[in-house]
Amino acid sequence: MKARFTDKVMVITGAAQGIGKRVAELAAAEGARLVLVDIADYVQGVAAELRDQGADAVAVLANLETWAGAEAVMAEAQKQFGRIDILVNNVGGTIWAQPFEHYTPEQIEKEIQRSLFTTLWSCRAVLPYMLKQNGGVIVNVSSVATRGLMRVPYGAAKGGVNAMTVNMAYEYASHNIRVNAAAPGGTEAPPRLTPRNAKEQSEQEKAWYQSLIDQTTEHSFMHRYGTLDEQAEPILFLASDASSYMTGTILPVAGGDLG
Ligand SMILES: NC(=O)c1ccc[n+]([C@@H]2O[C@H](COP(=O)([O-])OP(=O)(O)OC[C@H]3O[C@@H](n4cnc5c(N)ncnc54)[C@H](O)[C@@H]3O)[C@@H](O)[C@H]2O)c1
Repeated sequence: MKARFTDKVMVITGAAQGIGKRVAELAAAEGARLVLVDIADYVQGVAAELRDQGADAVAVLANLETWAGAEAVMAEAQKQFGRIDILVNNVGGTIWAQPFEHYTPEQIEKEIQRSLFTTLWSCRAVLPYMLKQNGGVIVNVSSVATRGLMRVPYGAAKGGVNAMTVNMAYEYASHNIRVNAAAPGGTEAPPRLTPRNAKEQSEQEKAWYQSLIDQTTEHSFMHRYGTLDEQAEPILFLASDASSYMTGTILPVAGGDLG
């Protein structure tokens, strides 16, 4: 198979587990030089594993809900590898699943911090480097939950991610910077080392979460969840030169659910 990322420097956020980790593994196999970012320190184990397999990979710990975190990550990537070709903004995920009237103001703010600000800060922080090198590729990981149940704040955050994807694509096309988003549907993954929400669910909360799962599978033409590979591959397609004439596109990856 052709190595699409030979010597490309790729920053992947939220790379300690789930979709981000799988993107890192597949990109490493195709020659990418990786900066793996996470708030969880076991991202260092992911980077070490990839180095053992011959990849060039470093781990950076940061809280991407802050501007300072995002700025430090991009500065470190530049310091380590001298450029940033690709940024995959993968951190996100709904923390609560409940009818909107049950969300507290604090929960709403937390959802927006987790699923919008992480991407907003990282995009802003990478731009000076991509502008200076006159090119780059950004892939934001959105969600088809922009049309869903039990997660209004998360849907709002991902709607924001979609809007910034299109606006940035428009604004920076003349600088040779492409910006696209993949919008996953429900995805099967091994049990999370870092749960989205560590608190034990009440019977009511379990029922609300089940209605989210039911809505997700009903809205997919295939009536099933996707796999980590089925999410990672479209992200890598958008990150690669194979999508060189695509920018400002939100690509739904949800078995026919368009979000
Ligand atoms: N899994 C799904 O079913 C699904 C469906 C649709 C969209 N998505 C989207 O795909 C992306 C990845 O989902 P996932 O299920 O693999 O996620 P996950 O929750 O399994 O992993 C997210 C990673 O991000 C890290 N992280 C969280 N907050 C952080 C912060 N402030 N700074 C740095 N790192 C932080 C976590 O430690 C974790 O390693 C998310 O954007 C999510 O919204 C996922």
